[in-house]
Amino acid sequence: MQTVPLIQVGLGGVGRAVVERVLAAADEFEWRYGLRLHYVALLDSRGAIVAPEGLTYGDLQRALAAKSAGQSLATMAEGYRHEGAADIVDVAGTTGAIVIDVTASDDSVDALLLALERGYAAVTANKRPLTQDYATFRRLVGCGRFRYEATVGAGVPVIASLAENIIASHDTVHRIEGCFSGTLGFLTTGLQAGGSFSSLVREARVRGYTEPDPRDDLGGMDVGRKALILARTLGWPLDMAQVQVESLFPPALAAGSVDDFLQATGTLDADYQSRVAGARAQGQTLRYVASLAGGSAQVGLQPVPLDSPLGRLQGTDNLIAFYTDIYQTSPLVLQGRGAGANGTAAGVLADIVALARRQR
Ligand SMILES: NC(=O)c1ccc[n+]([C@@H]2O[C@H](COP(=O)([O-])OP(=O)(O)OC[C@H]3O[C@@H](n4cnc5c(N)ncnc54)[C@H](OP(=O)(O)O)[C@@H]3O)[C@@H](O)[C@H]2O)c1
Repeated sequence: MQTVPLIQVGLGGVGRAVVERVLAAADEFEWRYGLRLHYVALLDSRGAIVAPEGLTYGDLQRALAAKSAGQSLATMAEGYRHEGAADIVDVAGTTGAIVIDVTASDDSVDALLLALERGYAAVTANKRPLTQDYATFRRLVGCGRFRYEATVGAGVPVIASLAENIIASHDTVHRIEGCFSGTLGFLTTGLQAGGSFSSLVREARVRGYTEPDPRDDLGGMDVGRKALILARTLGWPLDMAQVQVESLFPPALAAGSVDDFLQATGTLDADYQSRVAGARAQGQTLRYVASLAGGSAQVGLQPVPLDSPLGRLQGTDNLIAFYTDIYQTSPLVLQGRGAGANGTAAGVLADIVALARRQR
């Protein structure tokens, strides 16, 4: 039996779902893969619990309950405050360890780099470490002990298909097109069905599809980061500033409260209505598309043929179409639920298993 020590940084919605999945899979992974995954440390933004011999089922359940109740791990009886995730990797790391980054923070990069330097493996669902400078991306991804499936398309196997199938088969990628935001998918398919921009933004917010400030989604930066990760995975040495990102609201609406913004979205309705009508007149519909071709990447609202994979996409699903030498006229298409804590946790767990099995 191979025992794999896990150090997990982050216990938000995704982090808690990862712990629950690891616990639920324990028996099956033992007989199927000969793997015993055991947590030696859990961290949130301030606190940590550490047990070199492995946190028990009871310890993990108490940590999950504390986080669900909004408490910090630092307030648990066995918890203490940490000075940074790298410090915990330093003390809790051990041969064969896997560090899991399920934060939304830039700071986790130090912990990831330390883990790889020590010879451990690492997994992230967090786009930020991969969208800092290109040299950091290469240091993380180039060592062969780092996986990041959940950063694009959550549990949909986008990165594995690109990195381990298309690139590994020496196929040439000519173009990638994708919709990587459930929120913007909801919005564009709603516009197509005749809804107004302002009412769709409000509805998306009420349904919990947007961040508390919907400008965080409508600005397009999250999709821009995913496009950058794909571009860099292709080996294109781009920086974030080189990815063209179209915002769905004008700069004048960037300041002010969320309520002010929601009020002001009504002024954009007529413009979106005429863009939708213009597309429809050409047999097209609008989608918020990430496009990669010829070494450059852009994300924005684009007309796409109604009878295309992107045109047929409805609701909050994500979709990616790879156009390569082999998949020229008929692209390789992956589609599915691209968000949600469970789907994201599934992508993270599959990465953990892949890395653990490679360590043999
Ligand atoms: N939710 C999705 O559908 C989805 C899909 C794909 C990818 N992702 C990515 O998955 C990641 C996690 O998402 P989430 O929804 O779980 O986020 P979240 O609810 O905001 O949770 C983030 C967790 O990270 C912890 N944290 C923040 N900074 C930290 C630091 N410097 N050191 C240690 N821990 C730190 C937070 O601690 P506290 O608890 O103390 O605040 C919290 O537990 C994000 O990067 C997100 O973009 C999410």
